[in-house]
Amino acid sequence: MKTITVALAKGRLAAKAMKLLEQIGITCEEMKDPESRKLIFSNEEQKINFFLAKANDVPTYVEYGAADIGIVGKDTILEEGKKLYEVLDLKLGYCKMCVAGPANAKELLQHGELIRVATKYPNITKDYFYNKKHQTVEIIKLNGSIELAPIVGLSEVIVDIVETGTTLKENGLEILEEICPLSARMVVNQVSMKMEQERINQMINKLRDIL
Ligand code: PRP
Repeated sequence: MKTITVALAKGRLAAKAMKLLEQIGITCEEMKDPESRKLIFSNEEQKINFFLAKANDVPTYVEYGAADIGIVGKDTILEEGKKLYEVLDLKLGYCKMCVAGPANAKELLQHGELIRVATKYPNITKDYFYNKKHQTVEIIKLNGSIELAPIVGLSEVIVDIVETGTTLKENGLEILEEICPLSARMVVNQVSMKMEQERINQMINKLRDIL
């Protein structure tokens, strides 16, 4: 039997995803050591490997087949636009992609003015403003703490993930438009889906039963 490799997005999602897999009998003891700096973990018995990667890189590993399966947020899947199968909503990490900013930026959005939008998600932002809203904007790519941008005058609005809304609120910002709901998804390499159909489908069905 071939070893199946699963790529997990590092961070809050990974532990939750492992708990889900545990519920369907897939375990990895090695992975539970919080001190460990190991990058890849294996369950020899079940012929399954796991590795943690930066969320943005998970679709790349899966597209190239370096991982057969990936567990990653819908935001990353949309942003990376890789060729892979999205097979299951894991119903974890619910949040939404939003346009946010100070309340007075609402007007700028409504009048379709040439505004600056700061974001970690330039492709999602482009698609939303250009293809859905038909509005020309200047997109400024940042790598984190996006909420800073409108506060310090780098941009009028931001496109970012909102979970509880606390970060926005504590910084005097609010949701101006909702782009789409997000959650963790299971993705599969297109060749693996055919070659390992039985094992992967079994995994999907078992997960579906407990979700
Ligand atoms: C995410 C997101 C928001 C925040 C939203 O950032 O970019 O900043 O969480 O959560 P809330 O609505 O519950 O306040 P993350 O913590 O992943 O870090 P980042 O800002 O460096 O991207």
